[in-house]
Amino acid sequence: MTTAGIILAAGKGTRMKSNLPKMLHKVAGVALVGHVVRIMRIAGIEDINVVVSSDIADSAELHEPLLPGVRISVQAEQLGTADALQAARSAVASADTIVVAPADMILVAGELVRQMIDQHISSDSLATVLGARVDDPAGMGRIQLDDSGRPSAILEEHEAGEQLLHSKLINTAWYCFDNRWIWDELDKVNAADTGEFYLPRVIAAAASEDRSGVVVSNDPDTGLGVNDRVQLSRVESIMRKRTNEAHMASGVTISDPAATYIDIDVEIGADTTVGPGSHIGTQSIIGSGVVIGPNTQITGSRVGDNAIIDGARVFDSIVGEGASVGSNALLRHGAELKPRSKIGNLAEIKNSVIGSGSSVSHFSYVGDTVVGENVNIGAGTITCNYDGKDKHRTVIKDDVLIGSSTMLIAPVTIGKAARTGAGSVVRSDVMAGDTVAGVPAKSIKSK
Ligand code: UD1
Ligand code: CA
Repeated sequence: MTTAGIILAAGKGTRMKSNLPKMLHKVAGVALVGHVVRIMRIAGIEDINVVVSSDIADSAELHEPLLPGVRISVQAEQLGTADALQAARSAVASADTIVVAPADMILVAGELVRQMIDQHISSDSLATVLGARVDDPAGMGRIQLDDSGRPSAILEEHEAGEQLLHSKLINTAWYCFDNRWIWDELDKVNAADTGEFYLPRVIAAAASEDRSGVVVSNDPDTGLGVNDRVQLSRVESIMRKRTNEAHMASGVTISDPAATYIDIDVEIGADTTVGPGSHIGTQSIIGSGVVIGPNTQITGSRVGDNAIIDGARVFDSIVGEGASVGSNALLRHGAELKPRSKIGNLAEIKNSVIGSGSSVSHFSYVGDTVVGENVNIGAGTITCNYDGKDKHRTVIKDDVLIGSSTMLIAPVTIGKAARTGAGSVVRSDVMAGDTVAGVPAKSIKSK
């Protein structure tokens, strides 16, 4: 039995009041549609298709959150969920079973989807819906059950009678369908009074053949969707709680989970501690025994074992094993700290390598620079890398001592074990072992 997934993501999402299509709004660092792809993969679905509107089919924002192998179909006009599904028909021709999901129900567990698929296949159903019992069903379609507990129909709120409206069993809009059956049934769906073609209508058709099924989640979070920005924040906080708990279960200490913001697709090793007010962005990889925070922000970066990042910001950078990054430091755009190097208060490192055992402790800017091993850069040092037109490189060799407030006018090279005096303005290369001082800096080493 082969199963293909189809994610309906072409809707306008008008209640978001946004120029960005709803399914590209992010939760825990990843667009909604990316979450649904991940749920399907956890459920064991390899072949995944996303139905989108034509204006974003080629956009980078759409492709970024998708995993490799996910394919795109286009719904030409947004005529409702039944019409959206039609757009993926040819893409899934070889599957026996299709799993259909909306882009905005991302708290559904992959294991529950797997359970729905298994039940659908073993009971030989034509259509199976995933329902959830929720506290507040407002705005959701309701699943109507017959006396034997089978779904007989799904009605939208505006169509449901008084009795069904009181039901708290909602349609999550995750379904399984028999792929040989569904397409003729879609053709038979009539437009609702809103003018849209509603996919849930096909449940009644399966029920008329006694082959409809339902799987009900008793976790009310399963039924929480994202239709507006209040719901977006609610879903985000539940997603973060789950993510934090998964990290804690695998050995990470999080002292205040409610104040810790870890995106999905982040790896953290055991015995790492994350303090309050810290944010770790998607795709970051953190080693074990690392101390992060409080009040630290890390995105798109790799942090080695036993490093310390305390109250700093680290963007698109690498922090080596046992390195330390202190309060208010900023590492960005390809900064690379080699093992046991040290960056301190209010230092900024950009597109530079800092060698092992080297230290940039306070108030310095190091950009487009390669710093060797065991270098000490004094407070207030600036690599003057920009001449108003182009960026230039600075090279600082091993064992150099840069005096406080040195200005290094790039391009410039400071030779091994050389020293600069406090306040020097270094305009030309310094020889290995030399000591320079003054403005412009000159050698002061006695011959
Ligand atoms: C839908 C269900 C409702 C269910 C709810 C759960 C219908 C008619 N109703 O309502 O029973 O309780 O989901 O979340 O299906 N889409 C398209 N093309 C379209 C219209 C929608 O791709 O022309 C996509 C949307 O991007 C979205 C999904 O289909 O991801 C569901 O559409 P949405 O407008 O959110 O449906 P609901 O009104 O929430
Ligand atoms: Ca919805």
